[in-house]
Amino acid sequence: MSAKTKKKGKMAIQDQIIAGLTDAYWKEIETVQNYIAVSTNLDGVDAEPIKKALQGDVAEELGHAQQLANRIRVLGGSVPGSMAFKPVQKSLQPPKDSTDVVAVIKGVIDAEEDGIAGYNKLIRLCDGVDFGTQDMCIALLTDEENHRREFKGFLKQYTR
Ligand SMILES: [Fe+2]
Ligand SMILES: [Fe+2]
Repeated sequence: MSAKTKKKGKMAIQDQIIAGLTDAYWKEIETVQNYIAVSTNLDGVDAEPIKKALQGDVAEELGHAQQLANRIRVLGGSVPGSMAFKPVQKSLQPPKDSTDVVAVIKGVIDAEEDGIAGYNKLIRLCDGVDFGTQDMCIALLTDEENHRREFKGFLKQYTR
């Protein structure tokens, strides 16, 4: 099947990749927003390591968003403005109790899982079609897997 016939059916593969990258971009942006909020709001001595880890992750997740934005452009798409943003991270909202470290840790794990699922989907979509995007997504996936591992470790300690 030629690329042209492929286009006639569902969305062309390149458009699907751009859509996936855009979705991942928004997730990174929302993660930045919520990591800033929860890490700033948390109170108490138990919260200190979590605050520190999240404050460091803000820069990293922002870097992910910038890489995704650049890749969208390289593929011929354009990066949307904030009016197109739809929030999804319900479990990562700042908890009512500002000392509820466990709620924050669980929210972070959810966000990382969601990111991991998105990157796995993109990696499969790019297979044999777009190795540049695939390579970038593999690196991003690995970063999110490291974050998830770190926060699973925190959860183990804080729920002991
Ligand atoms: Fe990220
Ligand atoms: Fe992450």
